[in-house]
Amino acid sequence: MSEQHLAVVVLAAGEGTRMRSATPKVMHEIAGLPMLGHVLATATALGAQYVIPVIRHEKELLEPHIEGFYPTVHISHQDDIPGTGRAVECALNVLPEDFSGAVVVTSGDVPLLDVQTIESMIDVHLSSGAGATLLTAVFEDPSGYGRIVRSDSGMFSSIVEHRDATDAELEITEVNAGVYVFDHAELKKALTTIGTHNAAGEKYLTDVAVEILKSGREVQALQVSDNWLVAGVNNRVQLQQVSAELNKRICEAWMLAGVTIVDPQTTFIDITVMLAEDVTLLPGTHLRGLTTISRGSVIGPEVTIADSRVGENVSIVKSQISGSVIEDEATVGPFSYLRPGTHLGAGGKIGTFVETKNAVIGAGSKIPHLSYVGDASIGVESNIGAGTIFANYDGVSKHHTVIGSHVRSGSHNVFVAPIVIGDGAYTAAGTVVRKDVEPGALGMNVAPQRNLADWVLDKRATTKSAEAAKKAKE
Ligand code: UD1
Ligand code: CA
Repeated sequence: MSEQHLAVVVLAAGEGTRMRSATPKVMHEIAGLPMLGHVLATATALGAQYVIPVIRHEKELLEPHIEGFYPTVHISHQDDIPGTGRAVECALNVLPEDFSGAVVVTSGDVPLLDVQTIESMIDVHLSSGAGATLLTAVFEDPSGYGRIVRSDSGMFSSIVEHRDATDAELEITEVNAGVYVFDHAELKKALTTIGTHNAAGEKYLTDVAVEILKSGREVQALQVSDNWLVAGVNNRVQLQQVSAELNKRICEAWMLAGVTIVDPQTTFIDITVMLAEDVTLLPGTHLRGLTTISRGSVIGPEVTIADSRVGENVSIVKSQISGSVIEDEATVGPFSYLRPGTHLGAGGKIGTFVETKNAVIGAGSKIPHLSYVGDASIGVESNIGAGTIFANYDGVSKHHTVIGSHVRSGSHNVFVAPIVIGDGAYTAAGTVVRKDVEPGALGMNVAPQRNLADWVLDKRATTKSAEAAKKAKE
């Protein structure tokens, strides 16, 4: 090879029938990314000139993801001839006529394969001058995988698919990982000669290796030591196993980076999450999407946070949070529900049984108990009384409430938006606030209380309440 070019083909055109799902197999998520996303991230990290995902089944569900997140790749469409061999043949059509070099083939359903492993395969492939180099693993339970048949001298001789294997071949525990490096010219030539003479009636990529051997070039079969790297996902049992293993590895990496995780078995961290040193995660914590948590914060138990930014020394207990920002030293929970657009200022508090949405809450302000705060802005160091509802919806449109700084609102208020409560204002308990309250004023619209003397003695004469009242009056 005069000039070393590299192309990476990612197989993702299969039907994935064993998943029994309306979602394409490779779009099933592990650690917050579709399996295909993990594989494309690895493929693009190899620095290849061409990354070529091959798609066909439910392509309208795959295309937006690929185009949105990996705009530099070249999508190839498989035609109606089935099989991994045909998929690669279609992928090669994307390459220019004069392409020469190595072609890596990986699968969208082998999500844990890492850059390092592929790079070392490429190194061995190029230095040995092999026509093809493939990855193998020894599995205790090899069922479903293609088996590696070796000659008496231990050299690679063929791959037999599970459904085409004889009883003796089924005993082989060394399997084909489905990851290959080919010499482009050899691959192209071999693909034209392979047929569909197998139980599935498909054009198998695995047959290419045998064709390359026949043409006199060497085929290297390299065994991995970390079997998880090549674990394939064909059904939901395997999806769970691979997902649990990846989560375990993510938790271990964060622990080594200075995060305390009390129970990794019940802590789930997406691959996209960022954590600082001295963050503590208590059992039942789920961190999703583009979430970041700064130093010293304690999260959990039983907390789910998605796409949110959490500052330093924050405490969050038994709560659900998405699309929110929580500044330093703030506290949330237990039992809070922070919906998108919530911004809790430094040292602020969102307490027990409180729901917020599209609410900017200033530094030091507190909403401690039993409230709904939607479409609102609250200044600094205000206190919202227990059981307050921000009535933001008139049945047709949403309206905004502005609460100033150092406001003290009474318990059981309703703020009927749009409305403005000035700085330093108070509102009385039980007030339905329908008019703006100017700075420093007390807003109240509660009718004066009237006690009807002896009403119970008169109207509920036979009750225990009447009896108790009579006694109290003696
Ligand atoms: C394949 C290998 C098997 C290996 C295993 C490792 C073949 C014939 N068999 O089997 O030796 O042990 O992977 O995981 O290659 N695909 C297409 N177009 C198709 C069919 C499949 O793009 O027409 C894609 C699928 O979307 C998938 C990948 O190729 O991402 C592998 O296909 P799958 O049907 O899962 O192959 P296995 O039976 O697992
Ligand atoms: Ca597979």
